[in-house]
Amino acid sequence: MCGIIGIVSNKSVTSNIIQSLKKLEYRGYDSAGIATIVNGDIDEKKCTGRVDNLEKILFKSPSNGPLGIGHVRWATHGVPSQVNAHPHSSEEVSVVHNGIIENSNELKKDLENKGYKFKSQTDTEVITFTLTDLLRKYDLIDAINKTLKKLNGSFALGIIFKKYNNVIVGARRGSPLAVGYGHEENYLGSDSYALKSMTNKITYLDDGDICILSNSKIEFYNSKNKKINKEILTLSDDKHNAEKGDYKDFMSKEINEQDMTAKTCINEYVDHLRQDINLYNFSIKPEEIEKIFLIGCGTAYHSCVIAKYWLEELTSISIEVDIASEFRYRKLKFNKKSLYIFVSQSGETADTFAALDLCKKNNAKTCSIVNMVESSIARASDFVLPIHAGPEIGVASTKAFIGQMLVLYILAIKISEVRKEISKSDYSKKITELKKLPDLISRTLKCQDKIQIIAKDFLESKGAMFLGRGLSFPIALEGALKLKELSYLHAEGYPAGEMKHGPLALIEEGLPVVILAPKDRYFEKTISNMQEVIARGGKVLLISNETNNVISENVRFTLEIPKTEDCLTPFLMTIPLQLLAYHVASLKNYDIDKPRNLAKSVTVE
Ligand code: M6R
Repeated sequence: MCGIIGIVSNKSVTSNIIQSLKKLEYRGYDSAGIATIVNGDIDEKKCTGRVDNLEKILFKSPSNGPLGIGHVRWATHGVPSQVNAHPHSSEEVSVVHNGIIENSNELKKDLENKGYKFKSQTDTEVITFTLTDLLRKYDLIDAINKTLKKLNGSFALGIIFKKYNNVIVGARRGSPLAVGYGHEENYLGSDSYALKSMTNKITYLDDGDICILSNSKIEFYNSKNKKINKEILTLSDDKHNAEKGDYKDFMSKEINEQDMTAKTCINEYVDHLRQDINLYNFSIKPEEIEKIFLIGCGTAYHSCVIAKYWLEELTSISIEVDIASEFRYRKLKFNKKSLYIFVSQSGETADTFAALDLCKKNNAKTCSIVNMVESSIARASDFVLPIHAGPEIGVASTKAFIGQMLVLYILAIKISEVRKEISKSDYSKKITELKKLPDLISRTLKCQDKIQIIAKDFLESKGAMFLGRGLSFPIALEGALKLKELSYLHAEGYPAGEMKHGPLALIEEGLPVVILAPKDRYFEKTISNMQEVIARGGKVLLISNETNNVISENVRFTLEIPKTEDCLTPFLMTIPLQLLAYHVASLKNYDIDKPRNLAKSVTVE
């Protein structure tokens, strides 16, 4: 997704803009650009591909101004190309934009009638020319306000001006934007992570806010054009640094860190002395909840599906799970006795945020489970449960999934205990088992070598299938998603019991089928489904914690994971599937951390 940087200083800002753009690379992008003010004029440089390419251009043709804006673009309107890359500049202004301007065609016609010549296919260029036009008649603040009023849709903007050449203007509606305070310089960024190497003093713009940054001060205005003060937050230091260390890529680091992810998360929530779970100031009364909605996208949605099984098992609360992009358009009846839980690694996913916003507008109780505690979703919800996973850089979500599942599981057992739906001894036993999880994860991670061999089987196949029942069904969905996004193979995750209702037709000689069959109440049934797959030529990889008594004739590979209580098995089942996707993609030489077409933080609808 697109990313914005702005720096205003009293020395050249180019090199810091480039370094900050590199921090935004994790979001996924297809082109990059920068604009500074050099000798009183706007100097714009852009390119397709990586920020490295932009750096090379700047090396040949430097652009050293004391203020500037930079951008990484993820195409929405118009193909990835140099001309469509941001910034979009006129003689007077230069604009970088995240989001989508929904009425751009209409505005474009009006501007063309006035004689403005558009170079790009983007929706952003209408902002450049609308502002240029209004600056002819109005001063800075009025021109900005009038421009923003004309725009429908969502945006975070960074703007520099030929005439007002000592300020950067930022504006937010729908897309996140942070402001950073430095020493004789100030910053704008689409997230605080990009600014962290320069400052830990941050303010977030709220919807409708405008900010004007010079190197000595920052002014804020709200949507009513009233000057406002904003709280300055001091960001905490990351316990986990966001460097690759000895690993080849972030994904392998993040997979292999998962025992530590689990340990940190458990330590944050489990009171070892009292053998209890501490949700700190959890302001929601579990006794009063009649229904819980769990909402997320992609991997976060899969953790919601698993939580449904846990909550149904442990409580009498009725549970609904929804994909955020569907939830936000449902005609829902909001109820004071319902709790709406939003799960998101980044805390910036546009659909999840919109779903949360809908709940807030209907005065519903909201709770978010996020990795990024300074994110928009965290800040907007009534209550936040962080997953404490540390920065996740690989686009494919791995350790955040483990963290999301953990917090959801911890929440489920705590709710059950408060509602007296679990006995004291079972509650205590669950905590004891939970504390063993980091060690079990570390033992499961030892299957790497075997997975590397198994991965070769997937290289020539057209696709793959992942089957499971009960708690293993959402893990099958997650396994398929990981394989799709990293290795570009078609993969289906299915409840094993649904096979006969259609998908069985897909099974043909040699198709890899991953069967998730822990020794739980579905075990025998799943094994029968596996036999049906084998009978039709499917090449089976069986993952189980009970492989001794399975007739493994015709099972191509068997992988044994450690035994634990049923509720915790999904954590262990996940690991071989992450490794499988990783090694298939690795054998294909694909970009592991930045799969094609994908972005880490999906900040547009
Ligand atoms: O930041 P979020 O957790 O809200 O992101 C949701 C999805 O975009 C994300 O989980 C996506 O599906 C991952 N790339 C999957 O690995």
